[in-house]
Amino acid sequence: MIRSIVVENLRGIKKCVIDDLRDVNIFIGRNGAGKSTILEAIYIASAFANERDELRGVYKLDYVVQRRGGRGKWNTFRDVLWFSKDVDKRIVIELRFSTGNTLRFVLTNTDAPPSTPVWPVVLEVPIDLVYGVGGEIMVYVGRDTSGKLVLWEPDYRAVKKYLNESLYEIFRTELSYLSGVVLLDNRIPITSFESNTWRRVLDKRFDRIVLELIKEEYEPGTESILFKPSGEGFALSLALPNTSIEIDTLGDGARTALLYTSAIAPLEGTGVLIEDPEAHQYPNALVTLMRTVLRLAKERKLQIFITTHSIELINIVKKLAEELGLGMKLYYLERDRSTGIVDVRAVESIDIEILQKLGLDPRVLHII
Ligand SMILES: Nc1ncnc2c1ncn2[C@@H]1O[C@H](COP(=O)(O)OP(=O)(O)OP(=O)(O)O)[C@@H](O)[C@H]1O
Ligand SMILES: [Mg+2]
Repeated sequence: MIRSIVVENLRGIKKCVIDDLRDVNIFIGRNGAGKSTILEAIYIASAFANERDELRGVYKLDYVVQRRGGRGKWNTFRDVLWFSKDVDKRIVIELRFSTGNTLRFVLTNTDAPPSTPVWPVVLEVPIDLVYGVGGEIMVYVGRDTSGKLVLWEPDYRAVKKYLNESLYEIFRTELSYLSGVVLLDNRIPITSFESNTWRRVLDKRFDRIVLELIKEEYEPGTESILFKPSGEGFALSLALPNTSIEIDTLGDGARTALLYTSAIAPLEGTGVLIEDPEAHQYPNALVTLMRTVLRLAKERKLQIFITTHSIELINIVKKLAEELGLGMKLYYLERDRSTGIVDVRAVESIDIEILQKLGLDPRVLHII
């Protein structure tokens, strides 16, 4: 589990520190406060362990740029990512895990070091952590195009050999957490979902969980979820008593619920990033969807990060987390637009109740 996050020089964030993260973490704050950027930071760090976004069939870094309007090659649009387009700075994403290990991910756009990174995510590992000696030297670890781990510095052969052999051993828990991370937003294309995610869902018959949710809340008559011939190929569809409906033509609420639960169902011991899940959901449906998500979180040890503008969602998640015995915390983010410094105020689940009893809206914590 991630315990704390430090983000520097990423998009609108010059610096932001979030401590004491829990099982379920909700980020609130005004538009442009940096909530989505925090999700993107975790997603970018996860690219080190698994550079592909399996849900969308793209490279994660490309996707972060694309979803902000950038099209084309990573090289052309990387300035989208750097705070104030200052590409000479280092983007730093530091994650401290409950294991006690801290991984620092650095995106550099400079020549030294690493000299010519093919893959721009670099993991800095304190040498004393991996080599059993004290010292200030940082080891730069990245991946080449074939996906192999490569080290740029230092060039000490022994360290190099040791690291190559044991990096994954030492950081097994952290890297396995990171490789599973999914980002759930409203841009999940159905075609890659059908060919990638749904196969994994079926492999372990998690389609039952998805079917149950669809039946309970969205299309009560659904008998099964199956592929039916459509155009030149096949399309994932709901089989109803007298007809079938392609997933892509379902209402947005049902479609999102199906995509989210399918994406989460095969996961274990990792992080789930959910951007504004209240969109398209009728209040009852939001309860059912979040209940499914949080039950899976409890069963599979998933850590949840949610951005939202919805008081209703906060209350639903708070109640469900209490029922399920999951730790939950609310973080109010406030970004100084000129400096990019993000101030974070945390509210325990119990305090949310007090705030609301006093008639106070936790979304306006800055004036409280
Ligand atoms: N490269 C950049 N340099 C400086 N500021 C940037 C950069 N990229 C984005 N921003 C600013 O950062 C903010 C975007 O932050 P983010 O998308 O994380 O906000 P949010 O809290 O998710 O907002 P919303 O509630 O609207 O979704 C915007 O105000 C944007 O103008
Ligand atoms: Mg946002």
